[in-house]
Amino acid sequence: MIILNGSKSQPLGEKIAVNLGIKFENVSTRIFPDGETYLRIDTDVKARDVVIVQTMFPNQNDSLMEFLLIAGTLKDMGVGRITGVVPYLAYARQDRRFQPGESLSIKTVTELMKSVGVEELITIDTHYQHVEPGRFHLFNIPCTNLSAGRLLLDHIREKIDHDLMTIGPDLGSSEMVKYATGEERVLKKEKKCPICGMPAEECKCRIKKKKYEITEVESELDFSGKNVVVLDDIIASGGTMIKAVKKVKSEGARKVIAAATHGLFMKDSLIKLKEITDYLVVTDAISTPVSNVSVAPLIIEVLK
Ligand code: R5P
Repeated sequence: MIILNGSKSQPLGEKIAVNLGIKFENVSTRIFPDGETYLRIDTDVKARDVVIVQTMFPNQNDSLMEFLLIAGTLKDMGVGRITGVVPYLAYARQDRRFQPGESLSIKTVTELMKSVGVEELITIDTHYQHVEPGRFHLFNIPCTNLSAGRLLLDHIREKIDHDLMTIGPDLGSSEMVKYATGEERVLKKEKKCPICGMPAEECKCRIKKKKYEITEVESELDFSGKNVVVLDDIIASGGTMIKAVKKVKSEGARKVIAAATHGLFMKDSLIKLKEITDYLVVTDAISTPVSNVSVAPLIIEVLK
């Protein structure tokens, strides 16, 4: 087996390869003046099984294109089995059609991957339908979804080991929190209609679901004196995490730690979260200044 690292995951891919004691190559890539991707694979891969390590953020489209070009080139070079390790799987959030004519993007992405010879995927805390950790079929590709929740909590326990309580910032995080802690402790968002002011479930205005405003975050939990970890799969705009941290603080938590697998940190959310938390940590599924937990051990366990 050989590991080929795309440009987005070289340190992670190297870590995995060194730990497994197998050969790796960082694929040489560059961008042509017109914006297209050039790449070259400079290693003998004929008939060998290859693992491509490439996360898909930032620049989802370029990262995906690079992944497809690597796989297509490998296929032409006559490799054995191609496995894709994609810690952050772009487009996994576009996993259903809410309105007719919308793109089911993740389906198209997997079809493209399959067409260039990718036989299997390994990903971390994918947002796709909030699937539980384990193996499932992502349309036509067998996929293993791993969860980084326990690694994040182990890391946090090394810093603060007393009076810890872990919660999810919303219902979407419940699977991850349950898997990491065995308990389903999540905050609930109360959505109200901007026209009549009624809670979304009781509103008769029938406005579009998206237009209901999140006015409050509910909790029936007692945070006083606790060191609270708010654990989520993804921090994108940061809105969900910021709301949850503020809520927990306002209800008497001693320290608040924000932890997530994928730190996209749009706009100034990284700065804001650093300001309002006692500790902020994400994994190297996406490389950020606070990626202090590596997902390498999870991937190594599957590839062994
Ligand atoms: C929701 O279901 C997810 O678990 C995250 O809470 C959400 O996607 C985070 O997005 P944002 O950072 O934009 O609020």
